Amino acid sequence: MNKKMTITSIQKSKGIRPLVMMTAYDALFAKLFESSADMILVGDSLNMSFAGKKDTLSSTLEQMIYHTKAVCNGAKNSFVICDMPFGTYTNKEDALKNSIKVFQETDADCVKIEGGQDKAQTIKHLVDNGIAVCAHIGLLPQSVRGEGGYKVKGKTEEERIELIKDAKAVEEAGVFCMVLEGVKADVAKEVAQSVDIPVVGIGAGVDVDGQVLVFSDMLGLFEEFTPKFVKKYLDGASLVRGAAQSYAKEVQSRDFPKVEHTY
Ligand code: KIV
Repeated sequence: MNKKMTITSIQKSKGIRPLVMMTAYDALFAKLFESSADMILVGDSLNMSFAGKKDTLSSTLEQMIYHTKAVCNGAKNSFVICDMPFGTYTNKEDALKNSIKVFQETDADCVKIEGGQDKAQTIKHLVDNGIAVCAHIGLLPQSVRGEGGYKVKGKTEEERIELIKDAKAVEEAGVFCMVLEGVKADVAKEVAQSVDIPVVGIGAGVDVDGQVLVFSDMLGLFEEFTPKFVKKYLDGASLVRGAAQSYAKEVQSRDFPKVEHTY
């Protein structure tokens, strides 16, 4: 069994080896990913792939806690990150109250919050009160309605400068690591080079300190849409649909159950 990562070992991995982060929403998949992933993210993306909603905004703290508990049950030896859902950290008091709830009710190792310079004070407040924080900068899925869509960042000089400022601000506020989403690869490289903590990319090219993918994208289970940055390591949807069809056929033809499946 791999040794569980810690905040220190995650920080020390910068410049040594890329970090592997995957999402999981339940014990079953968390257990399957445990030996491959350095960190398991209980992402609020579960609201889309798991709950069938059009974006992440309606996920609730209670849902995130439920799924984080399940992931921690399945992957007892993994570093687990719980995404703080939209609206649960709009000010530092709420952020602390809600993060404490996550820490008290689950075995999550840290929380993740979306935002850069604008969230630096909130992050510092959490860190000062014993909550480990992973930041999420760049394209922020929780801002999709506010921004009118998912917009790749780092396309202009102004965005490049702001991204570097965001990375430095959250580092200074005390995060041990950050997710950088949907950023032009050359700018993402600069962002990673501008800080001393790991920058884990998603849609941010190869020159960062690790990668994260949403598991249902990576396993080809989510068919609604496939962003350019996703590589499907399995044709999961076809495999699952095929298995379900085989089962249905065998039930209908009475080929299942056979003697070996019968008491
Ligand atoms: O919710 C999620 O799965 C995430 C990833 C996209 C990084 O935040």
